[in-house]
Amino acid sequence: MAVKKIKKGIYSVGAIDWDRRLFDELIPLPDGTSYNAYLVEGSEKTALIDTVDPTKTGELLDNLQELGVQRIDYIIANHAEQDHSGSIPDMLAIYPEARVVTNEKCKAMLIDLLQVPENRFQVVADGASLSLGDRTLEFIFAAWVHWPETMLTYMREEKLLFSCDFLGAHVAQSEPLLWDENHVYQAAKRYFAEIMMPFRVNIRKHLQRLRALAPDMIAPSHGVVYPRPDFILKAYEEWTADTVHNMVLIPFVSMHGSTREMVEYLTGALMQKNIPVFPCNVIRADIGELAKELVDAATVVIASPTVLGGPHPAILYVTYLANALRPKFKFASIIGSFGWGGRMLEILKAQLGNIKAEILEPVMVKGCPQPADFQALQRLADAIEQKHRDAGISS
Ligand code: FEO
Repeated sequence: MAVKKIKKGIYSVGAIDWDRRLFDELIPLPDGTSYNAYLVEGSEKTALIDTVDPTKTGELLDNLQELGVQRIDYIIANHAEQDHSGSIPDMLAIYPEARVVTNEKCKAMLIDLLQVPENRFQVVADGASLSLGDRTLEFIFAAWVHWPETMLTYMREEKLLFSCDFLGAHVAQSEPLLWDENHVYQAAKRYFAEIMMPFRVNIRKHLQRLRALAPDMIAPSHGVVYPRPDFILKAYEEWTADTVHNMVLIPFVSMHGSTREMVEYLTGALMQKNIPVFPCNVIRADIGELAKELVDAATVVIASPTVLGGPHPAILYVTYLANALRPKFKFASIIGSFGWGGRMLEILKAQLGNIKAEILEPVMVKGCPQPADFQALQRLADAIEQKHRDAGISS
């Protein structure tokens, strides 16, 4: 990646990972990603805000060389996860005067994860500031945007917030500034769903603090820089709010067609009622898309055949993830088929222990669905409509 100027004396010097397709061996990356790092030149000191994934250290070094950077005084470590901290040991070796500026928790994690020497740290407190001469960096602790040690760095004079993971998106884009709002909105929502959603209540507090700061620009460590931060702050306020949308998500698996027939009937019944519905075959699903739909859906109906006395393992995987992501859906149900018995209902209900949703009458069918079973599915669709209406949920 070439160096890109963000503002006078502020450069994007990170790396783009165009063809990375999985993060944490779990999260699909249809658009690749970037590991953004920023070089900030003050009249007296120079700071590097975060580094890059260790696989991309060479690109970071090339960019610093392109800028002719001879000395780095501070490496600001906003977050200890290796996609942002992984190049710190190399940076410390190449820039011997550099100090790693971070908080106490992040320092301990960097020592554990990367064996950064203790004597290379400068520890800061929440609200502390660091002068670069004519520029000042302020540190804002933002624990649990997804790790406990995360902080944000705010440049007061430019009203520029370096938000690290927070407000980012897994997007690879050659120009650092946001230009395709719709594309980035979808990518940022997906990223929020996969990474931040379990912490949405905490994140609401951080958002209030950022609103009070009123930054003119936000530069995260994945994806694009937001020259009009209201775009992403508003999106996060919506995603972290308690409100849900008039929508039903149906993650399903079908082995011999019975569960599929049930899903198709329920989907049709909901469509008749003009309730948006998203049936999603989890065998071929991009789990990022599924997570994205979980951000707003008011109701989730899990549909599975019975395998070895329980739900299909692919449904177990998805419900395990959904439970860990703690989405805010208000209503849930389970539908499916069995040949001779099983404990699917108990197992799935237990699997969703973190979710506070009201469980609507499940529909379990022996063999293939019969007219009485379709009537039961119709009653489920009626119940969903009524519950949404009673809860004042609209599209
Ligand atoms: Fe992009 Fe939590 O690392």
